[in-house]
Amino acid sequence: STGLITFDPGLKNTGITKSSISFIDGEKGELLYRGYPIEQIINQCSFIETSYLILNGELPNTAQLKSFSEKVKKFSFIHHKDINKILDNIPVFYHPMGILSSLTYILDAFMNSIQEEDLYLHLLAKLPILAALTYRKRMGLPPVCADPYLDYTSNLLKMFFSVPNKSYEPNPIISDTLNKILILHADHEQNCSTTTVRLLGSVHVGLFSSISAGMSALWGKLHGGANQAVIEMLEDILKSGGNIKKWIEKAKNKKDPFRLMGFGHRIYKNFDPRAKIAKKVAENVIQKLGISDPILKLAKNVEKKALQDSYFLEKKLYPNIDFYSGIIYQAIGIPKDMFTVMFALGRLPGWMAHWKEMKLNKEPIGRPRQVYTGYKKRNIK
Ligand code: SDX
Repeated sequence: STGLITFDPGLKNTGITKSSISFIDGEKGELLYRGYPIEQIINQCSFIETSYLILNGELPNTAQLKSFSEKVKKFSFIHHKDINKILDNIPVFYHPMGILSSLTYILDAFMNSIQEEDLYLHLLAKLPILAALTYRKRMGLPPVCADPYLDYTSNLLKMFFSVPNKSYEPNPIISDTLNKILILHADHEQNCSTTTVRLLGSVHVGLFSSISAGMSALWGKLHGGANQAVIEMLEDILKSGGNIKKWIEKAKNKKDPFRLMGFGHRIYKNFDPRAKIAKKVAENVIQKLGISDPILKLAKNVEKKALQDSYFLEKKLYPNIDFYSGIIYQAIGIPKDMFTVMFALGRLPGWMAHWKEMKLNKEPIGRPRQVYTGYKKRNIK
């Protein structure tokens, strides 16, 4: 450190805030949401209950869950005139993450008369609508309104995939799978996108615009964009004849920028507990839907071979959540370039809870220092 400033590139050893939302033990491979292990949450809660827990600190009782769910349904509405304005603003050639981030930013303008407690519910209700609009505009399909008679994930899937003149029958296997994968993404302490949201909130950027910036951060290939990159990598391995060893050697070669996507994590130096669950969810949905997907088989072989390789073992590089999440999204029909959009829909309660916590804690603005390496003071000749 140089006097006052501790030099910590990548903030590897810096706690930038205090938070009670989620806890990660990287050595044990443990993740808690408000103290509850992810393994219990995934089996006993819906994504809406998990969102309530992450936003409010406790699991909802029956009455609280009812009122929370009813408000989300009530707010799952954007006036058709605004929908048309939004659709006119969606250029079809941009990546869906860029569109979703800009639409969320635009929506901020509509929200200034909303009381803060409802802001979180409005965004929880409206982000899936914006995500579905992005997809349907590109597919040339008309927008579909939210269906208040469906649960959160079935409604989300209906807004994405229902086709005109055909009644939409939710597939419980797919709805439950999406419910689980959204829960696995709901919060993860100070990852890059959550810290981005907190930084913007610390200078009083509105909730929706802070989340919009979080989405741009999530889009990075080393962060939430990895789920799409994993599938593209597995497809490349298949196309090049399935020689896994060659790709693992490539990932170990320092001169080669290629990294084994879906492997490694800043905190987990053991298995990412979410990856363990996601692997089972992937096996289950592929078996139940009767899909024969060579990508899943290849993924398991890549995991096996990598975990037999001394480089990966020494550096404690294990599969992370993104290694299996793309396989799950693919199995339930989500197009590849919408994978990170799904990650954003899952991470939304976490981003919002951190923004809310930072405000409640009245935290100072986030403004780190640097170690200066430029010229000493000099004069123009
Ligand atoms: C997510 O932070 C979060 O919590 C994120 C997330 C969340 O829920 O928000 O968990 C979601 O982003 C998961 C990570 C998704 N990204 C990937 O799968 C991309 C591939 N992984 C790597 O890019 C990397 O592992 C990171 C970015 C995830 C972690 O980077 P770090 O902590 O900065 O570690 P590092 O790059 O310093 O790696 C340490 C060593 C290096 O070798 P040396 O310089 O020590 O010789 O391990 C090597 C790296 O080269 N390494 C890899 C590797 N990951 C790290 N080598 C080959 N393949 C890899 N995947």
